[in-house]
Amino acid sequence: MFDEVGKLELKLPGTDSEYGIIAGSDLLARLGEWAGHCLGRPGGRVMVVSNPRVFGLYGEGAEESLRRAGFDVHVWLMRDGERYKDLRSYSRLLSRLGELTFTRTDAVVALGGGVVGDIAGFAAASFLRGIRFLQVPTTLLAMIDSSVGGKTGINLESGKNLVGAFHQPAGVLMDVSTLRTLPRREVVAGYCEAVKHAVLSGGSLFEETRSHLSVVDTSRFKRVFESPDLIADIAEFVLKQAAFKASVVIGDQTEDVSRTDFRSRKVLNLGHTLAHSLEKVTAYRYFRHGEAVGWGLRFAGELSKSLELIHSDELNLLNHVVQLVGELPDISKLDAESIVRSFASDKKNVTGKLQWVLLQGIGSPVIVASDQIPELSIRACLDQLIKRTS
Ligand SMILES: NC(=O)c1ccc[n+]([C@@H]2O[C@H](COP(=O)([O-])OP(=O)(O)OC[C@H]3O[C@@H](n4cnc5c(N)ncnc54)[C@H](O)[C@@H]3O)[C@@H](O)[C@H]2O)c1
Ligand SMILES: [Zn+2]
Repeated sequence: MFDEVGKLELKLPGTDSEYGIIAGSDLLARLGEWAGHCLGRPGGRVMVVSNPRVFGLYGEGAEESLRRAGFDVHVWLMRDGERYKDLRSYSRLLSRLGELTFTRTDAVVALGGGVVGDIAGFAAASFLRGIRFLQVPTTLLAMIDSSVGGKTGINLESGKNLVGAFHQPAGVLMDVSTLRTLPRREVVAGYCEAVKHAVLSGGSLFEETRSHLSVVDTSRFKRVFESPDLIADIAEFVLKQAAFKASVVIGDQTEDVSRTDFRSRKVLNLGHTLAHSLEKVTAYRYFRHGEAVGWGLRFAGELSKSLELIHSDELNLLNHVVQLVGELPDISKLDAESIVRSFASDKKNVTGKLQWVLLQGIGSPVIVASDQIPELSIRACLDQLIKRTS
């Protein structure tokens, strides 16, 4: 089944969890058939979780396909935006599942970006102590990052992603045709996270990401969908990116806080210390998260260079690939002082000490405790990055 599309099978060591990821174009029309396959039976009840924007574009087709496959389809739409990934939306979704007397043989289908995927996944993880769910990511970021790895959750007023659970989906369907309607900034944000994976991985993923970004113009992304070859390239690209994320996550399923090796899940925070600070000092209103990661990658590179960890050729290569992604929001007006202050409160500061993910080269991340890094170096690199953009 689905023999003609790209596939990835994930087996999680130490658990009986196993699921497949498929990527290709025009797959939503076959959502029902695929869902029946993943859930091990056609028919039954499903709750499609989405938002009005995504559902307005793709909901009808998805719903129709599920019905055709014999599913009894219910729909729950949340408001669009990160700020609605909160307790209130979560509690409403649980109430709806309860009112409809969903059982453990029923399932949740997340149709949307990472926000929808996280909240739908968390509701599925906690309702009746866990019902099955399917991820149907419709943003680039959700395809290559948030739909893989089993992290689900919501935000609290005191911080992002503070409540959640690890809950693996029963399957992930990536219909890259849905990316045709993605706004430019969301495209850029997704590709920045892709560059993060590429830089962490090095080798063929780095080369493939570099050549992919050389042919894809993110400012005219819709044009990609005029070429069947480029659509096929995107499907292949998202699957390889997801495979890299999966490889890291499988080796460190619950993010062991004591691990500091170069393949621990922590390395996925490359570029994220600066990114979180940039988002915070601009009250989460100025950057898309991935765009802030783009700046964060450049900063991690500069800091690694100033600590003599990385060679300048490799730093230039890193900067070149980040630039290929396209224009990032201007940072020249931001205040370096407040950015530095907010580093101290970064959530990834789990062991009480801030840990930076830096680079010894492309493909060689290294975790360095902040007390090993002179504050002056951090400040100088930040000033340089900000100055260079003004
Ligand atoms: N669980 C994880 O491991 C993990 C990893 C990374 C990020 N995340 C989470 O993911 C979230 C960010 O996800 P995101 O970047 O996908 O943002 P998002 O879900 O907010 O989607 C971005 C915007 O694009 C719209 N959209 C989605 N698909 C579309 C399409 N095909 N066409 C047109 N518009 C579309 C959405 O309505 C939204 O306005 C954050 O909450 C973050 O915490 C989770
Ligand atoms: Zn991120």
